Amino acid sequence: MPRVRTKTAGDEVWASAVPYLPRRLTLPALRKASEDCHGCPLYRTATQTVFGQGQTGARIMFVGEQPGDMEDKQGAPFVGPAGRVLNEALAAAGIDRDDAYVTNVVKHFKWIAVHRRRMHKKPNAREVAACLPWLEKELEVVQPRILVCLGATAAQALLGPDVRVTRDRGHLIPSRLAPQVMATVHPSSILRQQTSEDRHREMELFTQDLRVVAQALA
Ligand code: URA
Ligand code: SF4
Repeated sequence: MPRVRTKTAGDEVWASAVPYLPRRLTLPALRKASEDCHGCPLYRTATQTVFGQGQTGARIMFVGEQPGDMEDKQGAPFVGPAGRVLNEALAAAGIDRDDAYVTNVVKHFKWIAVHRRRMHKKPNAREVAACLPWLEKELEVVQPRILVCLGATAAQALLGPDVRVTRDRGHLIPSRLAPQVMATVHPSSILRQQTSEDRHREMELFTQDLRVVAQALA
């Protein structure tokens, strides 16, 4: 695959993931091709591409922001602390994770070193735009009945910059991306709550949003 890249003064302009997309549109072909993506600079400092996980026939697609530290090491989405919160809420809402395809807007872990630890850093708009072709192809192949955006990065990338998760969460709306789309909070936002009371309340609200998804599928 050609590296599509031009140099400007002291900076590099990175095209996008498009030149790295495979001809054959299947999940295994996409996953394989994504391993070699150099569509933006994030591949340089990450361990590996973390592609989506799930079956072609999945009825729900969950989209997070980007892999975290554990996802980067293990090569699978939502396997760390945020993944535990997601699994717990799925179970409480009666959604089988096998019925879900789980992925992220950005496929490489972006981090900064703080006291020798790798701390999550929010991807910027250029990185989100560069990586979006992977997600568009995942949507094309999986064709979920319901698309759930976890947190503001996913919601704004997929539904537009005006989406406010706190205001718009929990509602299923028709979209060109999937018959029904919902924005809700990111599971990490529950972990960031200061008190266990707040955590419980936020977990209950998140679970309620997922129950709306479960009911729509029933
Ligand atoms: N946070 C995300 O947005 N995605 C993951 O895969 C893990 C944590
Ligand atoms: Fe490619 Fe996305 Fe990784 Fe950037 S973050 S290199 S666009 S897979």
